[in-house]
Amino acid sequence: MKIKTIEWLTDQGKVKLIDQTKLPHTFEYIVTDDFRVMCDAILRLAVRGAPAIGVAGAYGVVIGANSLKHKEIGSFRLDLRSIMAQLRAVRPTAVNLAWAIDRMGRVLDKQNDVESARTALLREALALHAEDEAMCRAIGEHGAGLLRDGMSILTHCNAGSLATGGMGTALAPVYVAAEQGKKIKVFSDETRPLLQGARLTAFELQANGIDVTLICDNMAAVVMRKGWVDAVIVGADRIAANGDAANKIGTYTVALLAKHHGIPFYVAAPTSTVDHSLTSGDSIPIEERSGEEVAGFGNVRTAPPGVNTFNPAFDVTPHELIAAIITEKGIHRPPYNFHDIANLK
Ligand code: MRU
Repeated sequence: MKIKTIEWLTDQGKVKLIDQTKLPHTFEYIVTDDFRVMCDAILRLAVRGAPAIGVAGAYGVVIGANSLKHKEIGSFRLDLRSIMAQLRAVRPTAVNLAWAIDRMGRVLDKQNDVESARTALLREALALHAEDEAMCRAIGEHGAGLLRDGMSILTHCNAGSLATGGMGTALAPVYVAAEQGKKIKVFSDETRPLLQGARLTAFELQANGIDVTLICDNMAAVVMRKGWVDAVIVGADRIAANGDAANKIGTYTVALLAKHHGIPFYVAAPTSTVDHSLTSGDSIPIEERSGEEVAGFGNVRTAPPGVNTFNPAFDVTPHELIAAIITEKGIHRPPYNFHDIANLK
């Protein structure tokens, strides 16, 4: 990948993130050792995408730990727990954030002094980041097997390298297929209200030399009807044990369209996105964001003052619409059973 979405700067003890709110027109980094800046970056979607916010959260814990002045492990642990709770609560839907913070918490629990805690937490965050990169590659290798030379896929939102610590989830099969010499074309939904498809997916596919065509969300049915789409691949923010998958708002609509047109609809995600404690997608918490995002874009307001809005950031695609779920462990076909991830077949 040409672009690194998130990086740990060892010499400075800081995290470096691409500010995705400014893409594609301005390429700027946020470099910080302040966990509050990290919380804000996650909230504003400067860093976004389920796996990427997991990695960002883990580094957030590291910089939080480094900012504490305590010498005694008990009070250090107490204050770091409060920082972790703040990071964990920033966005509710993508389980990767909570998963990463909880993983850091388990490491913290095992430490007996502040210095070794700081070292162990950094080691864990770097390991989590490296694992995410490897999981993306494995998803790509498995998913590329579903793609033949000349195929066209449609994707929604951004589940590429900008959304992960590696080459992406939904876009990873496309990148690996391209490495294998296959010509794959991508239709990218623009993804209202925040336009991740237009601003981020179109940008990163172009930058990586993939043939990409941008469409408005309401054009997906037409390109499917014309026979231009061979498969849909999307990412996920949380997958319940029965395979129901939460992803960016509008994904459910795309799944229904794919069903109608007989097009396979695939979800690609690492197993860190699976929440096996939930039996179905009905209990996935859905983030609701400010109505301002619906009433306009950027500084331009398109709706009349005072209009009512509704702005759920995600929806849940029922498992019966999903032809397969691609994880780093392989291609999972229905009936889905993600109750026991360790022994997933
Ligand atoms: O609100 P966002 O931009 O964080 O939403 C991102 C998505 O919905 C992605 O498809 C999902 O997190 C998977 S990213 C590999």
